[in-house]
Amino acid sequence: MKRQIRCRLPLVIAILLFFSASLLAQQHRSVNLLQGRPLSSNLSDPDTESKIENLLKQMTLEEKVGQLVQYSVGTPTGPGTGRTGYEEMIEKGHVGSLFNLSDAKAANHYQHIAVEKSRLHIPLLYGLDVIHGYRTEFPVPLAMASTWDPEVVEVAARIAASEAAANGVRWVFSPMVDIARDARWGRIIEGEGEDPYLVSVLAKAYVRGYQGQSLRAGDGVLACPKHYVGYGAAEAGRDYNTTEISEHTLREVYFPPFYAALDAGAETIMSAFNSLNSVPASANPFTLKDVLRREWGFNGLVVSDWTSVGELIGHGVATNGKMAAYRAFSGGVDMDMESNLYHEHLVGLVKSGKVPETEIDDAVRRVLRVKFAVGLFERPYTDEKLADHGELPKENVEAARTAAERSFVLLKNDGAVLPLNSKFKTFALVGPLADDAGEMLGSWGGHSQAKDAVTLRSALVARVGADHVKYAKGGEIGKATDEQIGKAVAAAKSADVVIVALGENAPEMTGEAASRAHLDLPGRQEALLEQVAATGKPTVLLLFSGRPLTLPWAFEHVPAVLEAWYPGIQAGPALVRTLFGEAVPSGRLVVTWPRAVGQIPIYYNALSTGRPAGNADLSKPPSKGTPKFVSRYVDEANTPQFPFGFGMSYTQFHYSKPELRGEAVSAKTLSEMLRSRQEDAKPVLSVSADVTNSGKVAGEEVVQAYIRLRGTSVAEPLRKLRGFQRVRLAPGETKRVAFPLTAEAFAIWDQNNEHNVEPCEVTVWISPDSARGEAVQLEITE
Ligand code: BGC
Repeated sequence: MKRQIRCRLPLVIAILLFFSASLLAQQHRSVNLLQGRPLSSNLSDPDTESKIENLLKQMTLEEKVGQLVQYSVGTPTGPGTGRTGYEEMIEKGHVGSLFNLSDAKAANHYQHIAVEKSRLHIPLLYGLDVIHGYRTEFPVPLAMASTWDPEVVEVAARIAASEAAANGVRWVFSPMVDIARDARWGRIIEGEGEDPYLVSVLAKAYVRGYQGQSLRAGDGVLACPKHYVGYGAAEAGRDYNTTEISEHTLREVYFPPFYAALDAGAETIMSAFNSLNSVPASANPFTLKDVLRREWGFNGLVVSDWTSVGELIGHGVATNGKMAAYRAFSGGVDMDMESNLYHEHLVGLVKSGKVPETEIDDAVRRVLRVKFAVGLFERPYTDEKLADHGELPKENVEAARTAAERSFVLLKNDGAVLPLNSKFKTFALVGPLADDAGEMLGSWGGHSQAKDAVTLRSALVARVGADHVKYAKGGEIGKATDEQIGKAVAAAKSADVVIVALGENAPEMTGEAASRAHLDLPGRQEALLEQVAATGKPTVLLLFSGRPLTLPWAFEHVPAVLEAWYPGIQAGPALVRTLFGEAVPSGRLVVTWPRAVGQIPIYYNALSTGRPAGNADLSKPPSKGTPKFVSRYVDEANTPQFPFGFGMSYTQFHYSKPELRGEAVSAKTLSEMLRSRQEDAKPVLSVSADVTNSGKVAGEEVVQAYIRLRGTSVAEPLRKLRGFQRVRLAPGETKRVAFPLTAEAFAIWDQNNEHNVEPCEVTVWISPDSARGEAVQLEITE
């Protein structure tokens, strides 16, 4: 009998509870975007602190610096430094953490050296990029976010944590909470999209899931929100590029998800690669010291990104390694990932009086604190029997399938091609992504195994029988011959319906160092699509991508398009259940989908200009006679292909006009409420609407609440998300969906960069996406 990965009972119960709870309408969880209430750490208790002080007293300066040093020992995830063999350094106490190792046996090997042979027996902390699962690979993070379902995210993170911990990993470099407004940036796939509110809610869910009830419990892992900060705003979408972000926009857009993750209990954070307003983020005293430490009161550990300390030389703010180490450490980075520069220079910098030893002591305290927090001093070793060998537990597989089903975004469904008609008996399945298990795992596949992944082809064959599936690959992602395309066309002709699986190559075109200047389908995939569709057979396009793709032809001519992202191990079953209508699409876009690369950056929560195009039809380029001097393109629409929040269902939802309930509100009272920094701020208003399923099948709708403020001292976005709820509705059923709004919902960073509520006019929408819906007005008085 095959051995199962052992799974703790509480985890199973937690998963079951989560999924049964999410069948009901999900309650709105308010999220703190305040960035003002000092963070509190759960890690420091007097007993631990005295143990830390006791250790510190015994440590040499070299041993202290050792705790601030981290090396990769597995497959490198950055430019190789060529170093290996850390045994001797570990024995001397010169290494604090290792990462990229997820083999329990190897982890124990190094840990034995640290614990048994080093003078002070301080255990190593193991880190890893567990991005969307460890062995149970879930959909990629952008897809997970498209579920708009914090519970699904939390369950996935819990499963990932428990699998990672069983393999000795107690620190995950996740969640990535970089706001991204640019689909060219390859790492848009790793985050949760463009909206600070949504990213903040999901950031909290990830942290809760990873860290569990208690870090000490053994299956909790330290979360590490990254990349602090602004990395997603890389100019021209080119990875690692410069960023210029005003303090106002940092506070409104880029900071909130980090604050939220720390507020949920993350005790570590990773500093980014990018230069931010000319000061690299890994040596940036404003973001790392003024904001993170002083303003937010964060007392946890700051780790650099991969060689981002050494890269200060590339940025030009250091001319040598010593200067880079100095700038990073004095700028606020505690631990040097992979540069080797703290190891080489920090001792000398202390001895020469440039760096006070007391600051080294503080950084070491922060490292030791997290090591104590995950119980490494009591249980440094991994039980190799618990590690990742056997089959995946059924409940993990089911959680992965549920997540995938909720992440799919139905973009188009003309003539209700989907769900597939029961009269269809023969299915042509074409495209390079129809039967590629490895691709389904997406980028940062972690320790997932292609053998765990079920492709669309195998799931379809399992459902309808091999005789009914006419499969023709139609070429590779990057190239195809006429003959391959011809075979696909022949398959299409011989079938009742055509399913076309196209997209990007995950490892090469998405993720880190994978920015694209063109966002169309690579290779000859569009030709394949056009020729297959030209057969006149009903055609369904399934897109596998880590970002929006600009495919105007497909969106105009193909009747049904489903964005599948990279769905993880349960890709095939989740897709087949969706195609046949057992699962009804309910994913919604978390990024605005451009029509053309030239529209980028394009995001829903943009500011208005002084010359908006008014009531002009912005869904096409201007025609003769349209006013000239307005903010628009002469050769393209202003509107996106699909707006933020968009996604269709197999049913339809009808919204009533929203209604407001509550007392008149004054800016003065609301600002006072803000400043009182209440833990659970009381709602001052409630806005609600009836949502009705007016179609024929049950479905889940993601009901969204937006506001716009006018008359404020700074220009405010055209819309800002302030709440969302997933609601399940039977055919004909109506539910009243209410959003409580706290003072914080109306707060802005004003022209003095202070967090305030100002007198203004407010528009509130309850709507199915960021571009539709009826609104109500209210006034915030003086
Ligand atoms: C990435 C990080 C990652 C780190 C360690 C870097 O290249 O930017 O996101 O956590 O490598 O693998």
